[in-house]
Amino acid sequence: MTATRVPTGTDLTDPTDLTDLAALVARREPGRPLEGAFYTSPAVFEADVAGVLSRTWLFVATEAELREPGDFLTVEVGSYSVMLVRDDDEVVRAFHNVCRHRGARILAERAGSVGNLVCGYHRWTYATDGALLHAGDQPPGFDKGCFGLRSVHLRLVAGLVFVCLADEPPTDFDELVATVTPYLLPHQLHRTKVAAQVDLVEEANWKLVMENNRECYHCEGGHPELVRTFFPTYGYAADAIPARLRPAHERYLRAEAELEQACEERGMPYRAVEELDDRVSAYRVQREALDGAGESYTLDGRSASRRLLGDLDSPRLGRLSLHTQPNAWFHFLADHAVTFSVLPLAAGRTLVRTTWLVHEDAEEGVDYDVADLTHVWRETNEQDSVFCERAQLGVSSPGYLPGPYSASEYQVDAFTTWYLDRVEEHLAR
Ligand code: FES
Ligand SMILES: [Fe+2]
Repeated sequence: MTATRVPTGTDLTDPTDLTDLAALVARREPGRPLEGAFYTSPAVFEADVAGVLSRTWLFVATEAELREPGDFLTVEVGSYSVMLVRDDDEVVRAFHNVCRHRGARILAERAGSVGNLVCGYHRWTYATDGALLHAGDQPPGFDKGCFGLRSVHLRLVAGLVFVCLADEPPTDFDELVATVTPYLLPHQLHRTKVAAQVDLVEEANWKLVMENNRECYHCEGGHPELVRTFFPTYGYAADAIPARLRPAHERYLRAEAELEQACEERGMPYRAVEELDDRVSAYRVQREALDGAGESYTLDGRSASRRLLGDLDSPRLGRLSLHTQPNAWFHFLADHAVTFSVLPLAAGRTLVRTTWLVHEDAEEGVDYDVADLTHVWRETNEQDSVFCERAQLGVSSPGYLPGPYSASEYQVDAFTTWYLDRVEEHLAR
């Protein structure tokens, strides 16, 4: 254990240049949370956007939100705004939401449908493939071909939409895609529709939101609805289960044995692949059993939608859980999927967008009830929001000193390590 360090005035300085940020990174004690400035400083937030968030693949939407040609979404990350559009050839594309004339934001709405993309300022008009179609009153010789929208890299991963704002995105994303796709395919997300979507703005830094997701140390007392089905032993090594959690662990082992058999019979991958901190496109994927009836995230563990996803023939297939750095987590059940996209807005403000997907043929009020479908994660998100906002208040105080992670918080440590590696890469550029 490292000796407790007495904070000095420099701990609390808002690093205004990269030298200060380098000093902050260098001072980080392994196995401990970050200092407060990482969560509160506008300058660090700018470095996060420039060095981490704009250089990695971000999960921003599901293909189900862009089902028809002309459907669009807008997504904000820091001062970036990105438009996602399905074009007339059914290709989903991403563009900077910035006009090529004098830079006005083109789409103000969060989602909708358009024929063309029209800037409301001087009416420059773009096709859904980004080409400039019309710019009024330009002199002869004006070449529309030079003023198409600036595209943003986009990848579809079995129905999940990722974008990367960098000119040259990290190439190791291909390995992530190759590994996780076989896990995702049975859920056939391209045959889903959005049953519900909730945007929650949390008054907390995006890293606190991610760190909170990467552990279930707080679940037992903090998430009464979630732990009806989510085993609170998550994150504990098998030989380090606390005595009070032994009964839950015994149930977990029995449910896991059943789940593994069900997966083997169906040729569905389920084993954990964990690459959380030693690569840029870092991730974790695993199918694991649920408690209770073992089917879904409901209070009794039974399915929330009678129409199972894809061609699945059993509701009892646990939860396929995927974590991707830096900004997402996902749970794919037999009857629905729920995705979480963390979209940093400012140093102390983060949008968490949660989307529930059901089979495209499932009928609301017949096959599923939205309130039942969303109950557990609505409650869990609200509870997490309170935790994150409390944490933001605490780390903003001059009285904050980082304490040690517990063993079950190893994925928080992995996130932090991953993040600092990206910051160091940024500082070295
Ligand atoms: S800024 Fe968009 S048309 Fe002028
Ligand atoms: Fe939580």
